[in-house]
Amino acid sequence: MEDRVFARELQDKMVPIMVLGMGHVGIPTAVGLAELGWKVAGVDQDLAKIAILREGRLPFYEPELQELLSKHLASGRFIPTEDVEGAIRSATVLFVCVGTPQRNNGEADLSQVEAVARMIARNLNGYKLIVEKSTVPAITAQWIKRTIQRYAKGGNTNSPENPGHVSGSEISSRFDVASNPEFLQEGRAVHDFFHPERVVCGVDSEQAWEILAEIYRPLQCPILRTDLNTAELIKHTANAFLATKISFINMVADLCETVGADVMRVVEGIGLDPRIGPDFLRPGIGFGGYCLPKDLRAFIYLAEVQGLDFSLLKEVERVNQRRSEVFLKKVHQALWVLNGKTVGVLGLAFKPNTDDIREAPSIKIIQGLLAEGAVLQLYDPSAMRNMQAIFPEEGGRVKYCSLAYDAARGAHALLFLTEWDEFRQLDLAQVRNLMEVPILVDGRNLFAPAQARAAGFEYISIGR
Ligand code: UGA
Repeated sequence: MEDRVFARELQDKMVPIMVLGMGHVGIPTAVGLAELGWKVAGVDQDLAKIAILREGRLPFYEPELQELLSKHLASGRFIPTEDVEGAIRSATVLFVCVGTPQRNNGEADLSQVEAVARMIARNLNGYKLIVEKSTVPAITAQWIKRTIQRYAKGGNTNSPENPGHVSGSEISSRFDVASNPEFLQEGRAVHDFFHPERVVCGVDSEQAWEILAEIYRPLQCPILRTDLNTAELIKHTANAFLATKISFINMVADLCETVGADVMRVVEGIGLDPRIGPDFLRPGIGFGGYCLPKDLRAFIYLAEVQGLDFSLLKEVERVNQRRSEVFLKKVHQALWVLNGKTVGVLGLAFKPNTDDIREAPSIKIIQGLLAEGAVLQLYDPSAMRNMQAIFPEEGGRVKYCSLAYDAARGAHALLFLTEWDEFRQLDLAQVRNLMEVPILVDGRNLFAPAQARAAGFEYISIGR
């Protein structure tokens, strides 16, 4: 009887949801679920983020997200709240989207996940489905389960503080843990939420499966049911494979330069083979961001703990770390001496359509240019504020420009580090007229070499 009522509540979207962690995954998930008709509470340990969201603003830039946020603050279906424990008690489905930063050895730091599990345990007032969305190493879901069992009121049957204990099996019947890894990409998170290629649901109970299947039913994509460990491993494998593709093509790009071939045509040629495909084979200055580099290291660490030397992935990482040196070498070859020369830098974000600069390749490149004594004129459509925290304007060596053209003014070279569409639209003739010396060093292959040369530039790009 109880189950039937629950099924009806599910269909009527009356099951309350909460999302823990208001970051790049948590906010799109929360407002995306609100758009699908669910009532969603959003919490974060950083109360400033909650205050910002309440005012209808976002703590970071992400296309289309602002509109959805405003819409569902107004509809009342998304409620940011400081009352974490109250929200846990009110919720039936809890999406865990908290950060999983990295320790020095590459291991994922799961202290935020553990803290959340303990808080849920303290507030386990009825059935709850805890859905792990953060990227975590395999068997984390099992640890969340164990932690909740251990810390749930009365869960520790040996504890003298819990005289009115219930048994471990009674507690586990009051909650399920699922692994539902997120595959969305920054810069297109809203699109990816509504149009995923697949949804992966790692579950170990029918109830958990039914809830997740109902939540994701409108998305019209394959919904893959797996066990918990498999779901966790799918996420890590996907990111490690994507990273491998990028390092692979970057090495091919270097080879193209030495033998005199065009890497873009090579990608076209191999990409037509459906077993290979053309995607995620854009050569450049390497992969950055909060996910690929960190997840790759965590995967290597995970393998190592299991006694496996995943040396292939170590090489993927090594190739990636060298990309900024490869690029700086190109700048050197073009300019010879950098000391005292003005260099324009276009693109600071780790990829377009975001203001995120975490592990952005631009950081290492800027450090290298400054170490050589260059004077930098930087521009990015949205990441400049974040970059100012790392490279402030003081000292006259670093200047942030309000237009791309200003970064080119008086420069001895103009470097492209992020492939923003805005840069493709630049009037190259105007850029050339502004520059002291017309040299473009393009780390993202934004232009056709013939086009850049026809505009009067010495043009250096990747693998062509
Ligand atoms: C990545 C994955 O693509 C998502 O599927 C995953 O959900 C996410 O991590 C995550 O784990 O949360 P994201 O970090 O947003 O997404 O960025 P990507 O689009 O993967 O780009 C990562 C880096 O690789 C960027 O620096 C980008 O410039 C670089 N890249 C990407 C290349 O150099 N070449 C390519 O062909 C593609």
